[in-house]
Amino acid sequence: MSKAAVAPKIGRPYLIEVRGLTKEYRNGAGVITVLRDVNLQVTPGEIIAIMGPSGSGKSTLLYILGLLLPPTLGSYTFAGQDVLSLDRRGQAEFRRHKVGFVFQSCDLLENSTVYENLEFPLIYAGEDRQTRPAKILAALERVNLSHRVYHNANHLSGGEKQRVAVARALVNEPRVILADEPTGQLDHDNSQQIMDYFQKIIATGETAVVVVTHDPEIAARCSRIHTLRDGLL
Ligand SMILES: Nc1ncnc2c1ncn2[C@@H]1O[C@H](COP(=O)(O)OP(=O)(O)OP(=O)(O)O)[C@@H](O)[C@H]1O
Ligand SMILES: [Mg+2]
Repeated sequence: MSKAAVAPKIGRPYLIEVRGLTKEYRNGAGVITVLRDVNLQVTPGEIIAIMGPSGSGKSTLLYILGLLLPPTLGSYTFAGQDVLSLDRRGQAEFRRHKVGFVFQSCDLLENSTVYENLEFPLIYAGEDRQTRPAKILAALERVNLSHRVYHNANHLSGGEKQRVAVARALVNEPRVILADEPTGQLDHDNSQQIMDYFQKIIATGETAVVVVTHDPEIAARCSRIHTLRDGLL
């Protein structure tokens, strides 16, 4: 990473600051090192692209940033707080309120409606029953899915599922959106629209987006592109 990429914007503290991050997986055959000494800084108002070949550790890095997976080594501060030292409850709070995750597999509640899928994170975050519908409808509007609100998630197309997954990540108004190939199944127009929403969200200057993508057009719309290869960012 270049020095320029590391320097914070004037007066803007980092939202995410990761140093010396290493992740090893142990399996029957031994230990594999997926991330080696990764450093990454993200400022609110940025969209960062993470690229790299299949198996290079992109999802692993996002899981660590979302506190879904502990690193083997390294430090991670979020808005100045050492989040790796939080206890289980503190980490769960962090995931509920600060992070919007778009999983590579979409991971929707299959036998539930689109509405219920978006309501779930709001219930977890303790959002009032009365204020939930407006937030859910607003998030669905952003991804052009207002007409599917009571649809069963099973009956959505692949691209629609992906858009619901994006809406679900936005609904809580998180500080960071961690999106794992959020446009992998979308056509050009819908992909660009997802990027438009992300860009609108970061324009507030409060939120950042980290997006894993294989699509150079998507990466080109990000503030910076980082590439993972052989565990190195
Ligand atoms: N729980 C695990 N135990 C052992 N190895 C794992 C585990 N999870 C992931 N790996 C390995 O770590 C490497 C990185 O996986 P990861 O899912 O982060 O890759 P990726 O860059 O997201 O790939 P893709 O583009 O295919 O989604 C892969 O080689 C994978 O097989
Ligand atoms: Mg992946």
